[in-house]
Amino acid sequence: MRLVRLIANLGYGSRKEVAQMFRAGRVTDAGGEVLYADDQVEAASIRVDGTPLDPGSGLVLMLHKPMGTTCSHRDPGQLIYDLLPPRFARRRPPVSSIGRLDRDTSGLLLLTDDGALLHRVIAPVAQVRKRYVATLAQDLRGDEAAVFASGTLLLDGETTPLAPAPFQALGPREAQVTLTEGRYHQVRRMFAALGNRVETLHRAAIGDLVLGELPSGHWRQLQAAELALVFAR
Ligand code: URA
Repeated sequence: MRLVRLIANLGYGSRKEVAQMFRAGRVTDAGGEVLYADDQVEAASIRVDGTPLDPGSGLVLMLHKPMGTTCSHRDPGQLIYDLLPPRFARRRPPVSSIGRLDRDTSGLLLLTDDGALLHRVIAPVAQVRKRYVATLAQDLRGDEAAVFASGTLLLDGETTPLAPAPFQALGPREAQVTLTEGRYHQVRRMFAALGNRVETLHRAAIGDLVLGELPSGHWRQLQAAELALVFAR
């Protein structure tokens, strides 16, 4: 019964449902041999419906968050968790997003069941770089790079200035900004402080990890080597 508990804890179903999956022959080894609930096998060689079992702990996913989805477990409207298999919400510990993007921001979002990893990425001391691409309602003024790099920009209602943020113009109304902090609506408020307005906002990279070809609304598991890119300096 060890295997039933293992698979149930990964969110594939209640113990009763997982026991039923064994009886239906849906749990096999890597060679397709049907497994029984009291078999002694390594988790790595287990397949459910032919697909390798999710990792036991330290699951890390990347999601291409579409605009209009919310980084919350229970908000009205579409949630990022609706884009993932329901078993991820049933895992113990559950899968949560590493930081948040606004409802109207798209792009790279990481999720994990590993609380220590989550804190390592979002802790201010880690200074993980987040690269955003913004399209703007008005033409750039020309002084954005200097203002954002100054380390003196104060956002409305705040008393601590922003850390310097590298800026690059990509077109008359398009720019890239890299943040090492994560203040509320930070990019939108930075441009608002200069009299502009962000029309669309997309997170293109975290550290050196980029979204690549992952289509909007899709997710995949991250490999250990890719996770190291998040912390690249
Ligand atoms: N800055 C914003 O304004 N919104 C985000 O979602 C992320 C950074």
